[in-house]
Amino acid sequence: MLRRVLQLPSAASALTTNAKILAAAPIAACYVHPDQNYRITSRRHFMDLHKMVDKEAIKKANDRLKDELSRGYFADLSEIRKNSGKIAPANKTLIPSVAAAKFPDIVVHFPDGTSIKLPLFEQNGNNNSTDEIIPTASLLCLSFRASSQRMAESWSVPFLESLDTSTKIQVYEVSFVESWLLSLNPMKNLFLKIARSSSNPLRRFAYFFGDHYDLRKKLQIVNLLTGYIFLLDGYGRIRWQGFGSATPEEVSSLVSKKGVVIEGSRSSSCYSSGLIVYYAK
Ligand SMILES: *[C@@H]1O[C@H](CO)[C@@H](O)[C@H](O)[C@H]1NC(C)=O
Ligand SMILES: *[C@@H]1O[C@H](CO)[C@@H](O)[C@H](O)[C@H]1NC(C)=O
Ligand SMILES: *[C@@H]1O[C@H](CO)[C@@H](O)[C@H](O)[C@H]1NC(C)=O
Repeated sequence: MLRRVLQLPSAASALTTNAKILAAAPIAACYVHPDQNYRITSRRHFMDLHKMVDKEAIKKANDRLKDELSRGYFADLSEIRKNSGKIAPANKTLIPSVAAAKFPDIVVHFPDGTSIKLPLFEQNGNNNSTDEIIPTASLLCLSFRASSQRMAESWSVPFLESLDTSTKIQVYEVSFVESWLLSLNPMKNLFLKIARSSSNPLRRFAYFFGDHYDLRKKLQIVNLLTGYIFLLDGYGRIRWQGFGSATPEEVSSLVSKKGVVIEGSRSSSCYSSGLIVYYAK
């Protein structure tokens, strides 16, 4: 019993013992084994590296914050009120293939639980797993808010009506789900189970989960309340773009472009002017 008391100091004396060890540490460091010394310096390097990475991460986060704060919900809203989400008029002519940028890769999920990488084309590594038809052209409608889904439909519905069922043109209406809770697995699967799906094989409702900042940066998307519509060719290049709700003129212009399915380049060089005119009806 007495031994035990002697071996186990009280909390207060433990504190003073620790203080003594701390005070002795600088001297003790001189006597540590070389291995131990190495461990201390490498640990310090690790801390420096960590700080540097942190600095970069902090700068990135700050830039992003500035970016995001410079716009806000109310700026988006007032822009929508002013021009009903028309950030710019839709392209009247197709963007030439040499000038067209590839749509950035995104992984989207379908209500049936499958997922694919868009844009869908063979060279994008999509030739193995899915049963998806590789489209000769696709219309991508992006909605970041529920309110812009109707804008997307103002383009997709008349576009779909103009398509022949034998066509290899696909319409993807992509909704972005930002909520971290819904992006986690049990909730994500639940969300997909109740999510809107489509019985039209040419029309797919797709969902993107998580952070979309990088994608928006690449596509120069700032206003999240409006809809963004892209017509992609068989190589996933953006050949036409529209915004917000479609006007009747814009719709008929888009529908007329569908007749020009960009296919020719598939066999020969990518950048040949090979546009094959394909009459849907
Ligand atoms: C297509 O529309 C985009 C966005 O409004 C614009 O920047 C681009 O110059 C247009 N290109 C053509 C060929 O109309
Ligand atoms: C997919 O297609 C690319 C390009 O045609 C080819 O290089 C690749 O080997 C294909 N992959 C598979 C798994 O078939
Ligand atoms: C292609 O198939 C292999 C084996 O089935 C799979 O592991 C891989 O993820 C697939 N690649 C793509 C891009 O789906």
